[in-house]
Amino acid sequence: MVNLKTSYLGLELKNPLVVSSNPLTNNVETVARLEQAGAAAVVMRSIFEEQISADVSDMYTALEGDTSGAAMEYLQADLPAQLGPEKYLDKIADMRKRVKIPIIASVNCVEASKWVTYAKKIERAGADALELNLYHMPVDPDETAAKVEARRMALVKAVVAEVRLPVAVKLSQHYTTLLPFARMLDALDVKGLVLFNRFLQTEVDIEKEAIYFAPNYSSPKVLHSQLRWTAVLRDWVRCSIAVSGGIHSGDELAKALLVGADVGYICSVLHVRHDFAVIREILDGLTAWMERKGYSSLADFRGKLRETDLKHGCGFERSQYVRAAAQIS
Ligand SMILES: Cc1cc2nc3c(=O)[nH]c(=O)nc-3n(C[C@H](O)[C@H](O)[C@H](O)COP(=O)(O)O)c2cc1C
Repeated sequence: MVNLKTSYLGLELKNPLVVSSNPLTNNVETVARLEQAGAAAVVMRSIFEEQISADVSDMYTALEGDTSGAAMEYLQADLPAQLGPEKYLDKIADMRKRVKIPIIASVNCVEASKWVTYAKKIERAGADALELNLYHMPVDPDETAAKVEARRMALVKAVVAEVRLPVAVKLSQHYTTLLPFARMLDALDVKGLVLFNRFLQTEVDIEKEAIYFAPNYSSPKVLHSQLRWTAVLRDWVRCSIAVSGGIHSGDELAKALLVGADVGYICSVLHVRHDFAVIREILDGLTAWMERKGYSSLADFRGKLRETDLKHGCGFERSQYVRAAAQIS
């Protein structure tokens, strides 16, 4: 009998399959169906830092000129917590009541600003964890990698200080040096890293001579980078690791766990298949593989293929590339 239980961000999960942030997790009844279909947890669709800050600014504007004691007291007391997009918070509370699985709220953010105190509201609304989606395209010609990373670190630090909730950070794969960055996040007591976010893909319409954003559903072919970095990071961070990107079947989920992930996230496969039965299929695929291999729990094989020796390991080093290239020529 195979046991799929796992722990992620300190939360006990019935299995290692989590539905990642996307429009499907924006709706309470859909989340209930995802739970019914077997999902172990869901990450809500991200709310944008700008949405939160805009609400805050609106209030400042509305109160402009009103320096009466009551208004100023109101402003100084708990401003963002009072004014954050209430609907998002209501949704968290509704989901919390409607389903038993953990609900992970998500904020798409780039810097520590007024919005950070809203994180506390998310906690009070009943979320089990908070995922920070560090989604930002660094196109400032004067901003170096070090500055970008310092800004992100300051943001994460501020949020971790704000809440008692476990905080996860969803990363893009475009870091100059991902390993030290991940370790710095781990040292800030981040409870999980999500590898990786997918940016909107830039496309060019040559007839209209215009740029547009192409549909961004993945295939299992995009899994490689997540596997490589999970294997590399596993022994260097204490926190959980989630693989996000390219999990479409039990095989990809098994690969993610083998390199050391605690959970696999799915999104595209739900959109491509238009059928939540795929969740059970993925879990059944993982179970069948474990049975074939004689594994009875995830601990039996998790991390078996992690990179234990970065300097001399054979899985991801440059010589591997050299060897592969030699075979082709
Ligand atoms: C339509 C769509 C909307 C998404 N919205 C969000 C979002 O709001 N926040 C977020 O962190 N990721 C978002 N993502 C990224 C997914 O959560 C996921 O990380 C990415 O699609 C890779 O996983 P996949 O290969 O299983 O699709 C979105 C992806 C898609 C396809």
